[in-house]
Amino acid sequence: MDPYRLPRHVVPSRYDLRLEPDLATLTFRGEETVAVTVAEATDEVVFNAVELAITEATIQNDRGESLRGVPAMDEATERCRVAFPSRLAPGGWRLSLAFTGRLNDKLRGFYRSSYKDASGATHLVAATQFEATDARRAFPCWDEPAFKAVFAVTLAIDPALTAVSNTSVVAERREGGKKVLAFADTIRMSTYLVAFVVGELEATDSVLVRRAPVRVWCVPGKLRLAAFGHAIAVTSLRFFEAYYGLPYPGDKLDLLAIPDFAAGAMENLGAITFRETALLVDERAASHTELERVADVVAHENAHMWFGDLVTMSWWNGIWLNEAFATFMEILAIDAWKPEWRRWVTFGVSRAAALVVDGLHSTRPIEFPVRAPRDADAMFDVLTYEKGASVLRMLEQYLGADVFRDGVRAYLTQHAYANADTGDLWAALGKASRQPIPDVMDGWIFKPGYPLVSARLEGRELVLSQQRFTYLPEPLDGAEPSGEPGQRWRVPVQIRTQAGGTSSVTRLMLSAAEARVPVAETLDAVVVNEGGHGFYRVRYAPELLERVIRRLDDLAPIERFNLVNDAWAVAVAGLASLTDYLDLTARFRGERDRNVWSVLIASFHALNRIVEPADRPRLAALVRDRVAPAFAELGWTARPGEDELTRQLRGDLARALGTLGDDRAVQQEAANLYAAHVAGGREVDPNLLPALIAILAHAGDPARYDEFLRRFRAATTPQEEQRYLYALAGFRQPELLRQTLARTLNGEIRTQDASFVARALLTSVYARELAWDFVKTNWDAMERQYPKHGLRRMAEGVVALATPELERDVHAFFRERKIDFGGKTLAQYLEQLRIAVALRARDGVALSKYLARFR
Ligand code: BES
Ligand code: ZN
Repeated sequence: MDPYRLPRHVVPSRYDLRLEPDLATLTFRGEETVAVTVAEATDEVVFNAVELAITEATIQNDRGESLRGVPAMDEATERCRVAFPSRLAPGGWRLSLAFTGRLNDKLRGFYRSSYKDASGATHLVAATQFEATDARRAFPCWDEPAFKAVFAVTLAIDPALTAVSNTSVVAERREGGKKVLAFADTIRMSTYLVAFVVGELEATDSVLVRRAPVRVWCVPGKLRLAAFGHAIAVTSLRFFEAYYGLPYPGDKLDLLAIPDFAAGAMENLGAITFRETALLVDERAASHTELERVADVVAHENAHMWFGDLVTMSWWNGIWLNEAFATFMEILAIDAWKPEWRRWVTFGVSRAAALVVDGLHSTRPIEFPVRAPRDADAMFDVLTYEKGASVLRMLEQYLGADVFRDGVRAYLTQHAYANADTGDLWAALGKASRQPIPDVMDGWIFKPGYPLVSARLEGRELVLSQQRFTYLPEPLDGAEPSGEPGQRWRVPVQIRTQAGGTSSVTRLMLSAAEARVPVAETLDAVVVNEGGHGFYRVRYAPELLERVIRRLDDLAPIERFNLVNDAWAVAVAGLASLTDYLDLTARFRGERDRNVWSVLIASFHALNRIVEPADRPRLAALVRDRVAPAFAELGWTARPGEDELTRQLRGDLARALGTLGDDRAVQQEAANLYAAHVAGGREVDPNLLPALIAILAHAGDPARYDEFLRRFRAATTPQEEQRYLYALAGFRQPELLRQTLARTLNGEIRTQDASFVARALLTSVYARELAWDFVKTNWDAMERQYPKHGLRRMAEGVVALATPELERDVHAFFRERKIDFGGKTLAQYLEQLRIAVALRARDGVALSKYLARFR
């Protein structure tokens, strides 16, 4: 029997749960009655519980039988086994439990969060985070997604506080000194979606979406930051009702900003919880990137209300279905809301991130068997979210948006209030499209990696061939290869050919190793992956590449993005020369799309991590050579009527020039503008301000550090706080960087952020050696303090320790400490590090020569 799955001879259908949290003693007391069905006669009941003391267990039925049980906790399996003195007959029973627990500071289960008011006094909030398997830390339960049940929650709280749970309050009374709130029954749903939040909370007015009032909640004083999140919450909920063709399944929707929150947000039905940066924002003071983040997260969680909450995966191997789908829908909703944001182009950046990890030998299939829930934790990664969303987008484009939507509707209708698997979605999509979906999709979902499609001309034929793309020819020593040799995909390829002044699009399914497409004699150029939706890379033969480059203006932004992104990847893999790539970047001086710029700038950052320190000024000169013309044309000030994306591009280019490009004039002007801004004289465009702060940190001295530290502490919006916090990692002086490192562990930086700041320090070429020493020395303290996933996220920074010496040291450390983050996480970090060090070894000299002409 699988030790990770609960036995199914006793199944719950309803929980009447009463909890009494005490923010003064940091404890809670609970009582619950669980209606269960006994399927086979038994004298024991087994469910999940961890770090709870179960003080009483009795069971009763309608025939007047009542038995007292003896609970025994098993910490290792996070279970409780209640033994009864005689057998329970098959049928309905009510299990009553009393228990106590602690409000922990680990941001999981039922936990405490804190904030300071204007006078500096600390206040507490009690909140929950249950996904994947932490509901069992708050109340005894059958904590697997397939044990769906109805939850009737009652919270007994300090009368001065407010409480929110999944449904609306149906009764409020006083009992002793307590305010007792009874919440309406939930729909039938999984335990990981239950939530309660207790504190001095404030809410916006509600806006009705059909019958459901939608509100935003936060700690006192922040309601002025709720309007933008509220607006996208309402808009996206309406969008999803229309798309899914089903009403929102809850009776109300609350979105709550919690001061301490491990993830970005969590899709608890009707009570979505967020970290503050992902929900609260001052629309007039935020950059495009900051606003987009809020819009994305809100839309993503709302998408889950149907996909995930109404219909739920049967087990954790299906988590990709939840997360990939919500990520896909998030973009669809934002794109419908603000088409001028061109969200599908920006999605290219997400796709690119997935192509990086999926180009490793140590990648994994999107879906694979999961036994221990612990392995489910390692699945919340770029393959689940970004590769998953990319292949769904590819499928949607292939089937047609309406057919795809019809399949989704059928899937949701058929499995509402229940559980489903990937196969069920394929079945519904197959019916809607009359196509064999598994034939196309299984290679993308159940196999690791993706193809490199090479294109060449042979006479009047375009020849396309596929082979798996990997950066390294072999897995790292000793590792097993993933996938099989000669692996092939069914690749829906879209090609645009330009011949004699007319362009036409061809679609084909590349299934074999090679396909041939006739082309006109007058052929001018070919664009493979037309529209940019394919999850694969393209390598053009030199003459085809030259023809594409000569007509860059004919390419859509996403096609230019892919062109640069693939060219960079192919160079890193050693399949093309690095100097050719650097020449290519010179053709993009006229580029005006911020996503294309982001991939160019990211590649310069990667080179900065492998360049010899003596050559760093020359790399900076190359960056100026590439970036300065575009920035000069944009200028420092936004023109009236200029669109948001152009404004954001201005900020992105200024940042690249002032940091990586080390441009003194830009640094000087940044200082002037910033000084005028803080003096209240001249307002700086919100898209430029975050860049100014980053530039001034890069160029800064101890006085600037102290100033930014003060501003971090006094920040009045979550975004402002973030800008100054990450700026503290952007200085160059070792003594300042040491201070920032110390602050990641001394309580000055919230644990929800500390791991990300430490990661930022590992990836800075000025901080990385110090940071790595700090990490090694303080590993145990980090492990103790960080929330779940924190250590794993921090450790990702080792990919930037790209010198042979550091790489050896990284290996030695992880080997000695026997570190495992679950799944293949660590192997993926080490392989990425290897790729960077190998690039340095192979192309370091060529890079140095190339840079000699820049100064
Ligand atoms: N279900 C997740 C939250 C989650 C993540 C729970 C990991 C447990 C472990 C939620 O829907 C989510 O995906 N949140 C993202 C933000 C989203 C916009 C990509 C997050 O927290 O980063
Ligand atoms: Zn999600």
